[in-house]
Amino acid sequence: MSPAPRRARSRPDLPRLVAWRLLRAVDERQAYANLLLPKLIEDAGERLDARDRMFITELGYGALRWQGSLDLLLSQGMSRPLDAVDPPVRDALRLGAYQLLRTRVPARAAVASTVELVRTAVGEHAVRFANAVLRRAAERVEAAGGDMARALAAPARDTDPVGYLAAVHAHPRWIVEAFADVLGGDLARTERVLAADNEAPRPHLVARPGRVDRDDLLAQAEAAGLTATAGRWSPFAVRLEAGEPALLPAVRDGRAGVQDEGSQLVALALARATVASSAPAAPEGAPAGGAARGGLTVDLCAGPGGKAALLAGLLPGLLLAIEPRAARARLVRDALPDGATVRADGRQPPVRPGSADRVLVDAPCTGLGALRRRPEARWRRTPDDLARLTALQRDLLASALTLLRPGGVVCYATCSPHRAETSEVVEAVLAGRADIDRIEMASVLPGVPGAGSDLQLWPDETGTDAMFASLLRRR
Ligand SMILES: C[S@@+](CC[C@H](N)C(=O)[O-])C[C@H]1O[C@@H](n2cnc3c(N)ncnc32)[C@H](O)[C@@H]1O
Repeated sequence: MSPAPRRARSRPDLPRLVAWRLLRAVDERQAYANLLLPKLIEDAGERLDARDRMFITELGYGALRWQGSLDLLLSQGMSRPLDAVDPPVRDALRLGAYQLLRTRVPARAAVASTVELVRTAVGEHAVRFANAVLRRAAERVEAAGGDMARALAAPARDTDPVGYLAAVHAHPRWIVEAFADVLGGDLARTERVLAADNEAPRPHLVARPGRVDRDDLLAQAEAAGLTATAGRWSPFAVRLEAGEPALLPAVRDGRAGVQDEGSQLVALALARATVASSAPAAPEGAPAGGAARGGLTVDLCAGPGGKAALLAGLLPGLLLAIEPRAARARLVRDALPDGATVRADGRQPPVRPGSADRVLVDAPCTGLGALRRRPEARWRRTPDDLARLTALQRDLLASALTLLRPGGVVCYATCSPHRAETSEVVEAVLAGRADIDRIEMASVLPGVPGAGSDLQLWPDETGTDAMFASLLRRR
């Protein structure tokens, strides 16, 4: 639990006000917290010290991430549904409940400062109500004596284990069910994944092959005073304990980038897959051999260009990056100064059918595998998103397969472990094709946990996003 106790103040303090503004923007404008918070902090300017900034981040991200559990706590002390509460008041209550449940801020300070926040940000009319709800929440937390399930009145673990996990690990029930389904019903493992989702991820860097050595990158991190270690599975990965990646010269000039090690493994798997009778597979940890043979690699969903930049260093020949959204296509161009980027829809790519050696489909998805990074995402996504996304994913994979020449390979990947977006998409598309073989992921990523017939990473095991990937070769 963090952060350290803070003093109660008679006026609402600026850090709590900034955290409240973040919650309001996420609710009202569907803002992305990780993009907006740095701007809100900057707008508050010099009145915030380093400790304030840490507190805002903890409070704002924490209240967003833990929203479902906070709402359970608050609902215990209310006669009307929380949904019926004026949203500005509800967000302030969530900030108060987060402090009570998840920080060492003394209960009295958490209640008093939140009441002051309501008074200033919302108005006097809401103060009595907020005070009463928060006092009851504080009493519940104190009576539960550190037992979160009791404080939340969570479902009993033995009669409704999924409901219990959803409540105490702050995930919507449908997401817990989806994870448990992919994990073969193993609820102990599911619980470890849910807990890992509530930890802020460590920054991972990629040393772009041919541009900077991983050892050089590690040395740059050391020189910048950052604690860094070599990644365990990607030969290009560097993991930072914490700190600002932009302190490293190689990150500033694009020879290295910020990229989850799981994403690196996806690009590496495609580069290592043998394309029959054409460009040979890349040897482990090195730029691909057979540069003279070249070949065409297409990244069908390239924005913002992270995997494309790694593929460009791993594979010889031409890399064509396709991205329909203008702003994202610009990011791809920045990431691939020497590559070819085209703004187009991957379902109708400007590529001759049967001409590509390798195609990456890093499909738009629910992002359920990256919940650590986007605090509000788990509550914003709904099962209804799946129907639209899975239709698009099937179309993109089908389109990718038509681009392959005989012997060519597609890597279909998602940053979601949900079966509907992963194996079911692959199976549905392959049902209409008799000329595609699967390539075992274990053969290209030996020793990587989660690499079997397909690749399914999980944050509790590899410390990466829960990326999925499947390799398919045209006969
Ligand atoms: C998961 S992201 C790709 C991430 C990227 N490969 C990387 O590593 O940086 C999916 C991308 O697909 C793009 N996209 C959405 N619809 C698309 C379509 N119809 N055709 C191609 N790309 C699409 C999105 O704009 C988004 O940039």
